Parts: sequence; structure tokens; C-alpha cells
Amino acid sequence: MDRREVLKASLASAAVLGIAPNGAAATDLNLIAAVDGQAGTGHAERQPVLASLYDYELAAKSKLSLPAWEYFNSGSADEITLRRNREALDELRLKPRVLVDVTRIDTSCSVLGYKLPHPILLAPTSSHLLAHPEAETATARGAGDANTIMVASTLSNRSIEDICKSASGPIWFQLYVDDDRNFVRTLIERAEAAGCKALCITADYPFSYAPNRAEHIRAQAPTLSYPNVGSEAKAGGGGGRVRRHFNWNDLSWIQSFAKTPILLKGILNPDDADEAVKRGVAGIVVSNHGGRVLDTEPATIEVLPAVVDRVAGRVPVLFDSGIRRGTDVLKGLGYGASAALIGRPYLYGLSVAGSDGVRDVVNILRSELEGAMAMTGRTSLDQIDRSIFWKSPDFSS
Ligand code: FNR
Repeated sequence: MDRREVLKASLASAAVLGIAPNGAAATDLNLIAAVDGQAGTGHAERQPVLASLYDYELAAKSKLSLPAWEYFNSGSADEITLRRNREALDELRLKPRVLVDVTRIDTSCSVLGYKLPHPILLAPTSSHLLAHPEAETATARGAGDANTIMVASTLSNRSIEDICKSASGPIWFQLYVDDDRNFVRTLIERAEAAGCKALCITADYPFSYAPNRAEHIRAQAPTLSYPNVGSEAKAGGGGGRVRRHFNWNDLSWIQSFAKTPILLKGILNPDDADEAVKRGVAGIVVSNHGGRVLDTEPATIEVLPAVVDRVAGRVPVLFDSGIRRGTDVLKGLGYGASAALIGRPYLYGLSVAGSDGVRDVVNILRSELEGAMAMTGRTSLDQIDRSIFWKSPDFSS
């Protein structure tokens, strides 16, 4: 290996091991460029290092228009919850185990009866056309290539029929429950007819309540208003955006005719989780919408143990918001989550390399999870529990 190869390899492993801080890749590229210069290889073959989700984030930032970047990346109001999602995951300390035979690491799991080779799913996100011309159809292909489930948003730019046709794996449909019941019923029936295997009803976003970063530049960004499943399905547009009325009775009404299992997404309060389970939902997604809804609510990883305890195994509990590392997935599984979902990271992958980028992002996270399992001495997901964490703050137990 020449010096350039050594440097590339060490930067890649630094990123995989979590040593490289967010934003390190730009400096890394300069280093590689400097070494390139010395080695006389010129600048033509310089490639961005895409070894971690943060590398994809940085690469996406340079590719996306400013309004699209702000739309994807921003959180609500002062972004306190957005930041807290990361801080809380970063603050949790893992307990290593050594001398366990980790020749075979099995990350397979089962979610709502689907056997998956790993527990990393794609959370519903809107407006994929901002990231890539093939929009959600590319995401669906990437999800299939990564052997995972894509949850397609009500605010997808491609029709749910096109998304399902492009998919080689299961698609779940995320539903914003509009105040117009005819519209909601039509949308559910369409999604089910298209082949969606579950409904993921988002409960945490009745309306926007404070301007955020993206809204400051919305006026310059007509692309933020591309048509989507919701707006196209409803005469006059705007479908899926009028949600103030949505309440527990509407959930019962949907349950009365939906043929597919229903998950409720956007749960942080254990009382809400309990109510949802009593009302027969098939799963709970602990989520604060990636810090895009009520600002100053806690990180999902902070409330996950309480929700898992209250649900007490009656239905699977999934979680999202802020997951960027395999160690983050492990921490959620440690607190009892059945699976993790990512949002922004696969949008970065989609922006940078279309369906391949989506696949790569999931695969990077999966291999990081395998590494984290190996170093905590766990060879399958059923061995992951709260003993992956130190019990006492002084690390004496
Ligand atoms: C979202 N999210 C979201 N959720 C949902 O139920 N329906 C939707 O249409 C959207 N749209 C959406 C757009 C964008 C740009 C983002 C970033 C997020 C929330 C999403 O499902 C998920 O909860 C978060 O993205 C998870 O946090 P991370 O992984 O992005 O940090």
C-alpha cells in the first residue's frame, strides 16, 4: 500500500469506528488531495470517502440545492430536540465484552411477521424528488437491494402504485389522517390494493406550529411544493396536510375497514403507547419525527425504555430519530426496540447516488451494527438487552 492508500484506509476505518467527527470528511479529502499531489497522481481520481452516514451527509450537502438541504436537514423551532436526539445517543456508554467467539454475527430479526436480515428500516419521508429525479421509485429499489422495508410517505412525489411496482421488498404505507374521511379511506384502499403490507399512521404532527430553518427560504423554493400522493389523490390538492381533527375515534374507524396491520408512529408518552396497544395497534414507533415536531421534547432514546416497559411485549416497539451509527441501533435494541428506522441518512444516500446510495447507507449501518455487536459480545439480536450498558455512572458495574 502506498501512502495515499494507507491514508484512505485509515480515514475510512476512522469513520467506521466513529472516530471521525461529523464534518471530518472535507478535511480528509484535503489530506488525500495533498497526498495525491505528492504521489504525482493528480486530482482527477479524487473520490469522496463514503464510509459512514456522516460522509453521505456531507456529500449530499454539496449536491443538494440550499432549500432542499434545509428542508431535509432542519428541525422544528430552535432545534433543541433535533440536537438532543444525537446528544442522548452519544452520551450512552456501552459495556464491551471480550473473548467471545464472534465468527458469526446474526443480525436477522422478524418485524410484524416479516423475516429481515437486519433490523434497519426506512422511515417515511416526503419529497424524494428533491433528492433524485427517480424519487421514491429509486428509494424503493434501494430498500429492496438492502433487504429492508420502505415506509412510503403520504407526501411521496411518486404514486403509491409506482412505488410498489419498483419495489422488490415489502412497502408499508405511512398515513397522515386528513380531516376528510373519504379521502383517507380512498388512500388506504389504494395503498392496500397497490400491495402495501402495513399502515404506519403518523400521530405526532397535527400541524406546524413554529417556523423552522426551511420555512425561512421556502419562498425561494417552489420545488418544495412538488405534487405528492396526498395532493394528487385529493381534488384541490393539499391532501394529507389537514390533520387537526385526528383522534382515537378516527383510529378505531380506520381499524374497522383496514385489511393490513396498523402501526402508530410518533409515540413518546408511555400513556399513549398503552392506549394504542389497548386499542389493538400492531406496533408502536417511538419517534419525535427526527426533531421536526414539538421542540424541547426529549430524545427518543431517552423515553424508549419507559415505552418498552409499558408496552411489556404486547406489540413490537420500533424507534427512530437521530440514528447515524451502528452503536445507535444497538442502543435502541438494548432498550428493547425490535427495529430501528432511519430518515435523513437514506435521503442523503438517495441524493448522492440514487438507489445505490440508499442501499449503501443501510449496508454501512448494518455492518457497523455487526461490529458493535461483536465488541459487546453479542452474536444475535436476542442476546441484546440492557446489560450492554453500564449500570452505574462511575462504571463500577
Ligand atoms: C420526515 N418524517 C416524516 N414522517 C412521517 O411520518 N411522514 C412524512 O411524510 C415525513 N416526512 C419527513 C420528511 C423529512 C425531510 C424528514 C427528515 C423526516 C419523519 C421521519 O419519518 C422520521 O421520523 C425521522 O426522519 C427520523 O429521524 P432521522 O433519522 O431523520 O434523524
